[in-house]
Amino acid sequence: MAKPQSVNPCLLSTAAELLALGHLVAFPTETVYGLGADGLNPKAVAKIFQAKGRPADHPVILHVADVTKAKSLALNWPAVADQLAQAFWPGPMTLILKRAAHVPDAVTGGQESVGVRIPSHPVALTLLREFSGIGSGVIAAPSANRFGAISPTRAIDVANSIGDRLGPHDLILDGGDCQVGVESTIIDLSGDAPRILRPGGIGRQAIEDVIGKMTSATGNAPRVSGALASHYAPQAKTMLIDAAQVVETINKHHLEQPTLKIGGLLVHATLPQDVASNPQLHIKTMPADPAAYAHDLYAALNDLDRQGLDLIVIEAPANTAEWEAVLDRLKRATYSTSR
Ligand code: TXA
Ligand code: MG
Repeated sequence: MAKPQSVNPCLLSTAAELLALGHLVAFPTETVYGLGADGLNPKAVAKIFQAKGRPADHPVILHVADVTKAKSLALNWPAVADQLAQAFWPGPMTLILKRAAHVPDAVTGGQESVGVRIPSHPVALTLLREFSGIGSGVIAAPSANRFGAISPTRAIDVANSIGDRLGPHDLILDGGDCQVGVESTIIDLSGDAPRILRPGGIGRQAIEDVIGKMTSATGNAPRVSGALASHYAPQAKTMLIDAAQVVETINKHHLEQPTLKIGGLLVHATLPQDVASNPQLHIKTMPADPAAYAHDLYAALNDLDRQGLDLIVIEAPANTAEWEAVLDRLKRATYSTSR
């Protein structure tokens, strides 16, 4: 199994060389860890899909180090793309644009659009710049987890999720915890009007402050795997429960089936001491601030999931704009079990 290796300048040069040779490199971004390959090499991109177990028609995001390179991947570059790039790049925003002819089908899932982003994580940026010197400088990278599973925000979570699916020359870079913790906000600029396809690291309000009010995504939006109803899901049955009922729900399951291994993510709710200290229960108190919660979310879910739990009960945060990205991920993590 591939083990994470701590980042140093020499390792980053090696990583760029591995990319140029068509191998995979998992690397930290400010949102989540990505599983990278040379984005202009279809054979290398195919290895990403194999390692993730991801259907071939799901497009992947291309990561670049600067706007000039981003423009080179698009057929045209609308004025609104400049506004957004200036405001939010490098950072947790992906723009969907009409694709340039040389962008491989393997990247776009055969669609006429391409997703592009300049990440702000210093390791990601250094890797991209090194790779620009010796190769295409374009890194295709979805989140570095098995398809449908929880995204990784720590190198160890990458290793646990896909380490055994990587080849002998593939590499996992360890650059510490990801700062943002949820994926980039995806903005579709390939249609008539800009629209958000996936809420993420940059809030809707911040975007509208720059480009004005947007309509919500409806109808025939491009395929976005993060838009599948069930995604980011733990192995355990997972429920999203209103704050007012969450303690009662955990108590009820615990009393009915004392052998059940139950995990919980709580914010404001607290369990009675005698229940909370039961070894069958694995309860985490999450931050009440949305950005801090996002930062901790996938690490907490990955930790809970590794305990081999039967059930995870999550206290639903407030249904307000600042919680949009977190709520989106929680709903998808719990979709198949809480309807
Ligand atoms: O924060 C992020 O965006 C992370 C880091 C690694 O950059 N990446 C990420 O990749 O979340 P992934 O593949 O797990 O999710 C990217 C989403 C997918 O849902 C994919 O379908 C969508 O971007 N996407 C990529 N290219 C697209 C395109 N041309 N049209 C529509 N959606 C696209
Ligand atoms: Mg993903």
